[in-house]
Amino acid sequence: MTIQENVSLKTYNTFGIDAKAKLYADVQSLSSLKTILKSKNKDALFVLGGGSNMLLTKDIDALVLHLNLRGISIIEENEDYAVVEAKAGENWHEFVLWCLENNLGGIENLSLIPGNIGTAPIQNIGAYGVELKDVFESCTAINISNQNIRTFTNSECRFDYRESVFKQELKGQFIITSVRLKLTKKNHKINIEYGAIKNELQSIGIDNPGIKDVSKAVIKIRESKLPNPKEIGNSGSFFKNPVISKSDFEKLKINFPNVPHYIVSDNDVKVPAGWLIETAGFKGKRFNDYGVHTKQALVLVNYGNAKGRDIHELAILIQKTILRLFNINIETEVNII
Ligand code: EPU
Repeated sequence: MTIQENVSLKTYNTFGIDAKAKLYADVQSLSSLKTILKSKNKDALFVLGGGSNMLLTKDIDALVLHLNLRGISIIEENEDYAVVEAKAGENWHEFVLWCLENNLGGIENLSLIPGNIGTAPIQNIGAYGVELKDVFESCTAINISNQNIRTFTNSECRFDYRESVFKQELKGQFIITSVRLKLTKKNHKINIEYGAIKNELQSIGIDNPGIKDVSKAVIKIRESKLPNPKEIGNSGSFFKNPVISKSDFEKLKINFPNVPHYIVSDNDVKVPAGWLIETAGFKGKRFNDYGVHTKQALVLVNYGNAKGRDIHELAILIQKTILRLFNINIETEVNII
C-alpha cells in the first residue's frame, strides 16, 4: 500500500471542500488496514469513508485512511429472506441497486443516499419512513487500539434517529469493515406511507408498486429537492430535526400556528429544521460560493470553491438565528472536522 503526501480531499468529500491530507492511503484490504493500525498512533490517523457526512474546515494533519474494502455477497438465505453482506467501501446507492436487481427488498426507500455502506450505521441513515436499523442484522468492526475484530448486533449498535453507539460511547474507537442486512425475497413490505411517495406513484399511474417502483419514486423526489453532490457540493441534511417538549410546541404555535410537526411521544414533538430555516429567511440565500439550497433549506451547499470554515460560520449564524427567533436549538447532523 502506498502512502502519498499532501493529497487534496476535494473529490473524496461530497461537500467538495479542497482540504489537504498531510498523508493519504487508499486501503483496499483488511490485512493492510490491520498492518497500518498496528504501526501507527491512533492520533495520527483519520478514517475516511464515503465523505458524505462531513464538513472539512481545515487540512488534516494526519494519515487519512480512505476505506475502499469492496465486495457484496449473500451469506445465508431461505425462501423468504437473504442476509447480504457488503464490505465498508461499497457505495450505498450502488448497493441498493444491486439488491433491487436481485429482487431483495427493504432498502428501496433509502435509494440515492450518498456515502458508503460502512458509514451508514454510524448515523443510522434514514429517509421516507425507513431507517437502516429496520433491516440491519450486524456489522463487523476493527478496534483501532488492539486490532481485534468485533461483531455488533442490531441492539448493540443502539440505533436512534441519526444516532448510534459509534457516534456516542465508541466514537473514534472502531472502524466498521462490513455490514450485514436482512432483506426480503418475497412478500416485500412496501412502505409508501410517506405522503410524497404515494403522490409520486399516483402521478405515474402505479397502484400496486413493487420495490423497484418505490425506488424510482424516491429517486424522483430526491432529485427534485436535494442537490446532486456531483453537481453542487453538499452533505444532505446539515441539521437534525429538533425534538421539543409539548409545552414549548404549544408556545411556538401561538406565533406560528401553521408550524409543521410530527408527534414523537406523549411529551415530545419533532419540528422540521427545514421549515424553521426557511421561515427565518435563509432558504436559497447565497453568499459568494456557498449558501442554503434553493429547494430544501436543510441543505447547505458549496457552489464551487467555498471554504469549509465559511460554511461552518453560516451554520452557526443559522443556529443562532433559530435560537433567537424560535427559542429552539438545532444540532448539526454533519460532522464538523
Ligand atoms: N420544509 C420546509 N422548508 C424546507 C424544507 C422542509 O418548510 O426548505 C418542511 C416541509 O414542508 C415539510 C417538512 O419540512 O413539512 C419535512 O420536509 P421533508 O419531507 O423534505 O423532510 P425533512 O424533515 O426536511 C428528513 C431527513 C432527510 C430525508 C427526508 C425524507 C432529517 C434531518 N432529514 O428531511 O434526510 O431525506 O426527511 O425522509 O431527518 C439526510 O439525512 O441527509 C436527508 C436528506
